[in-house]
Amino acid sequence: MKSKIRWGIVGPGKIAHQFANDLKLVGDAELVAVASRKAERANEFAKTYSIPHVFDSYEALFETDKVDVLYIATPHVFHKNLAIAAMKAGKHVLCEKPLGINAKEVNEMINVAKEHKVFLMEALWSRFNPTIRKVKELSEEGTLGELKYVNADFAFYALDRSMESRLFNLDLAGGTLLDIGIYPVFLAYLLLGKPIHIEAVSNFNVIGTEIQTSIIFQYEAAQAILYSGLTNESRMSAEISGTKGSITLEPRFHETQGYTLKTEKGVDSVQLPSQGKGYTHEIIEVNQCLNAKKLESDLWSHQDSLSLISLLDAIREKSGVRFPFEV
Ligand SMILES: NC(=O)c1ccc[n+]([C@@H]2O[C@H](COP(=O)([O-])OP(=O)(O)OC[C@H]3O[C@@H](n4cnc5c(N)ncnc54)[C@H](OP(=O)(O)O)[C@@H]3O)[C@@H](O)[C@H]2O)c1
Repeated sequence: MKSKIRWGIVGPGKIAHQFANDLKLVGDAELVAVASRKAERANEFAKTYSIPHVFDSYEALFETDKVDVLYIATPHVFHKNLAIAAMKAGKHVLCEKPLGINAKEVNEMINVAKEHKVFLMEALWSRFNPTIRKVKELSEEGTLGELKYVNADFAFYALDRSMESRLFNLDLAGGTLLDIGIYPVFLAYLLLGKPIHIEAVSNFNVIGTEIQTSIIFQYEAAQAILYSGLTNESRMSAEISGTKGSITLEPRFHETQGYTLKTEKGVDSVQLPSQGKGYTHEIIEVNQCLNAKKLESDLWSHQDSLSLISLLDAIREKSGVRFPFEV
């Protein structure tokens, strides 16, 4: 019998809980370690998920030989240094999105992964969502004809939250773009590739955090209209249209459970539910890559992460989004 891939979690916060629940659903994965900056939080998390190895510092977890791969689940600004430290200690890494806060950081991370011959992937879970995988295939097979238009938005009302929260805190690279704007940008990139021109405008709150951004991606013969906001609810379905048909992704599109295809043949609604909350699919991808001794995923490669963050850099440049630690 093949041995299970041994996972450890760095930063047992909100997303780490959802991830841990989904990890239990993946047959050849076991959650064996967790590290928090606070022993109490690590112990509590370990108790909840029956995790045998508990660390009160991230560094101690990096050094243990009890794990194969680490899931980094801290706020964005800590991804680079933590992933690099883990990789230098010989650990494979699945790191939450965005992989780094800009292309310079992501480049550095990729270089360390290559140098130390370890696996590195951004936890861009939507790429592994069964519906999104299917829609990518349909689009590549030409079901929609020539692709002309992608429209996607990601927004929710968060103005009642504290300015100190991760979402608004500028020192933690707060704002919509790196947190949720990344999803509409990902969808346009996945289906249409890199645009030749970008337009983007943002609104900011009183402390200077970007809270709304509208984006146009211009291609040779297509356009994408994208939006992210912390100021309001939005539809959160996505529209993908070509010369021969269109697809609507059911909301919320980044964790969609199905799509409707409209072509001259008629209307076809298809349900492709994800397993658990949907993080299972990225975990399965990492396990498969590790079992195959691959150092990056074909579905979400190093280059894909670099392209995505480069687009986010370009959008930020256009709409004037800068973080205090960047100036
Ligand atoms: N894929 C998704 O669906 C999804 C959803 C939400 C968030 N995310 C991503 O996941 C990451 C974490 O988001 P989250 O909402 O889970 O964050 P969070 O709960 O605010 O923080 C996660 C953990 O990071 C650790 N941490 C380390 N240094 C920190 C510092 N200086 N300030 C605050 N926390 C620090 C803390 O763990 P200890 O103190 O215990 O060490 C904390 O519990 C973000 O990059 C976000 O983009 C992804």
